[in-house]
Amino acid sequence: MSNKIQLRDVIETDLPIFYEQQLDPEATQMASFPSRNQDAFMAHWTKIMADPSVQLKTILFDGEVAGNIVCFEQLGEREVGYWLGKEYWGKGIATRALQDFLQLEKIRPIYGHVAFDNHGSIKVLEKAGFKRIGTSNFFANARGKEIEEIIFELS
Ligand SMILES: CC(C)(COP(=O)(O)OP(=O)(O)OC[C@H]1O[C@@H](n2cnc3c(N)ncnc32)[C@H](O)[C@@H]1OP(=O)(O)O)[C@@H](O)C(=O)NCCC(=O)NCCS
Repeated sequence: MSNKIQLRDVIETDLPIFYEQQLDPEATQMASFPSRNQDAFMAHWTKIMADPSVQLKTILFDGEVAGNIVCFEQLGEREVGYWLGKEYWGKGIATRALQDFLQLEKIRPIYGHVAFDNHGSIKVLEKAGFKRIGTSNFFANARGKEIEEIIFELS
């Protein structure tokens, strides 16, 4: 049986699942992005779900909520991000989800910022055609130190 990956609009019952997924310490370390507490998480998602400039999709794997993928504007540029629950890692889900998402989100250029050692995410971007265009340093709260991130562009 082949596993089915689908994107659909985010619904309210997805939020507790996303909340748990973003609490995972291995994931926050990998992404260099700190988890939000429940109030901050709900406030953030309420805001982005109401913002028409944000494109948001739930990633389903065999009908289960595997994670989310989002495109938003940052400093005038479109930026993509994605997050999967740990039990869904390593199955090609993010690769496929990003490629499908890019059919829906057609604005180019579009950017991805990735911690220098987030090898899975780097591969996901490269397999979707993103190219490295530079690096920058930022203070990663999740790691308590400054780290390098790689900037990717799909033009
Ligand atoms: C990063 C993340 C989205 C990858 O999702 P995924 O569905 O496991 O990725 P895929 O299975 O599509 O893997 C893509 C490639 O990366 C490789 N890969 C995946 N995780 C890896 C890891 N931790 N280390 C090294 N390579 C990895 C896969 O083997 C695959 O390689 P291949 O193309 O040679 O087969 C997922 O680990 C995640 O949600 N992490 C926490 C949040 C995060 O980091 N988000 C991105 C912020 S920029």
